[in-house]
Amino acid sequence: MAYLIALHALAATIWVGGLFFLIGILRPAASAVPLGERLPLLSIAVGRFFLWIWIAIITLLITGYAMIGLLGGMAAVPTYINVMQGLAWVMFLLYGHMFFSPWKRVRAALAAGALADAGRAMNQLRFFAAVSLALGLAVIAIASGGSYGLI
Ligand code: HEM
Repeated sequence: MAYLIALHALAATIWVGGLFFLIGILRPAASAVPLGERLPLLSIAVGRFFLWIWIAIITLLITGYAMIGLLGGMAAVPTYINVMQGLAWVMFLLYGHMFFSPWKRVRAALAAGALADAGRAMNQLRFFAAVSLALGLAVIAIASGGSYGLI
């Protein structure tokens, strides 16, 4: 259980911390850079980060359900774990949508040199990333505060 929760918390940190950096730090810092340079830069950063999100999701799923097994199964775990699991699935689905829709369009538009289209798709990506960040922060608060009676 100790290794599982440690890995689980590390994966959550990488995912949610990465979202915070992207939305809260890199995007505003890059806004001073002209669009023609900003979009390729952001797209390289997002591409690298998305690989880590896949790794984080696989790790969260394996360790999360392994811990639920060790805790006596789905019916035996407290409500906050089920809330975490529910919100986690919303995050997973949102990420799937981001990866296969706006992110695919950003890459296609950049490859075709269509900066305005790439900018629009990047804005959609930013919106979904902001929603994911809010959910991720809520999940971490619920997961860590849950065992102390937060919810
Ligand atoms: C389907 C996916 C998930 C499952 C099944 C799951 C399950 C669990 C379980 C069973 C625990 C142990 C809780 C305890 O013993 O008190 C846990 C802890 C935790 N989970 Fe998840 N989880 C999932 C997704 C996530 C996601 C997406 C995040 C954050 C983005 C997250 C963040 C955390 C954190 C921070 C803890 C540590 C809580 C502590 O400090 O004790 N989990 N999770």
